[in-house]
Amino acid sequence: MQISTAFALAVLTLCPLAAIAQTTPATNVTQNHVQNSAPPHVAQTTPMGWNSWNFFAGKVSDQDIRNAADQLVATGMKDAGYVYINIDDTWEGDRDANGVLHTNSKFTDMKALADYVHSKGLKLGIYSSPGPKTCAGFEGSLGHEAQDAQLYASWGIDYLKYDLCSFIPDVMMKQAPDDKAAQMHLMIAAYDKMDKALKATGRPIVYSLCQYGWDAVWEWGPSVGANLWRTTGDIQANWNSIYSILNEQAGLAKYAGPGHWNDPDMLEVGNGKLTPAENRTHFSMWAMLAAPLLAGNDLPNMTPEVRAVLTNRDVIAIDQDRLGHEATRAYSEGELDVWTRHLSGGAMAIAVVNAGSDRYLSHPFHLSLAKLGLHGPLKGKDLWTGKEITLTDNMPLELASHDILFVRVASPR
Ligand code: GAL
Repeated sequence: MQISTAFALAVLTLCPLAAIAQTTPATNVTQNHVQNSAPPHVAQTTPMGWNSWNFFAGKVSDQDIRNAADQLVATGMKDAGYVYINIDDTWEGDRDANGVLHTNSKFTDMKALADYVHSKGLKLGIYSSPGPKTCAGFEGSLGHEAQDAQLYASWGIDYLKYDLCSFIPDVMMKQAPDDKAAQMHLMIAAYDKMDKALKATGRPIVYSLCQYGWDAVWEWGPSVGANLWRTTGDIQANWNSIYSILNEQAGLAKYAGPGHWNDPDMLEVGNGKLTPAENRTHFSMWAMLAAPLLAGNDLPNMTPEVRAVLTNRDVIAIDQDRLGHEATRAYSEGELDVWTRHLSGGAMAIAVVNAGSDRYLSHPFHLSLAKLGLHGPLKGKDLWTGKEITLTDNMPLELASHDILFVRVASPR
């Protein structure tokens, strides 16, 4: 259990919280696994869409969501596979005397908004917390799980991101102080409770856990019906954040597959001061990780270059490969990393990431096919130039700083 007091205090500071409602006792994880092991019917490949948080944070409004829906269609992103429009934190208002949650003034009519999004052939996602308050201090679902799930279903919600937030200080630390194992059981029970509430609605709703990758969530996420679970803290729009998250994913491939995925957090492509190379590498490696492709940029003001990255169909096809095998890091040499991903039909994707300074042909990186268990020459497609490339063993590669060579080999040998 890796819940640091510092973080818990930070959460406490961020979320001035209401009284604690009673939670159900911790349930048996093995038993849950049996109960929830029906074939997954959503997220057979990782969800693709757009989420409001990375660009709008607490300022998102109904109009921003409508604009995002319009833009997914107008930019060709919908045709490329982006279908979920996910409203993150700060849509919540107060509960009435019957405990029914209302939206706040930024979202006057959620049903009408869902109808609008659905009319575009898209799906709508929403956000809540198992605690009394969300991370931004808005109303959470504690004690109202079934009621909230029914409300989401009545609106036509297709996706829920469920973010731990105040559940840590207000339930885990209060109900089980100094007992990390009991705290973990409380957390798992809370995620299981919402899963059952969502399933009871009868509506297919993608269930996305957000608890920052604590307590090896990849080991128990499927047992609480999760379709995806965050494996990390919050991503930021800079290379260090993206590259450190990438490295944290090494070793997690075996936990991902159709219906249940690792989530290294939403995309920052087009945000901050990411360079073209960094946007390409971020997008490519999230595709290698079979990550959800949830864009988080300012869609109405997207540049053609950012749009070209987000709609690269060859790269999207790697992410959405039906086999659902996540990439593994084959080897690293200094600041160069080589990752491979097995694809359906026996194909393979190979990614060479340069986290260091520019490599020119005067001091190239030599790609070892032998270390990948392959023999050259191998014909492939360079997924960023669109051209054919022939890989040979110890082939010298020129690769700019933070850039990537991303190749799909149809018949690796
Ligand atoms: C964080 C979460 C972010 C965002 C934010 C909203 O805990 O990791 O992705 O949802 O809360 O308050």
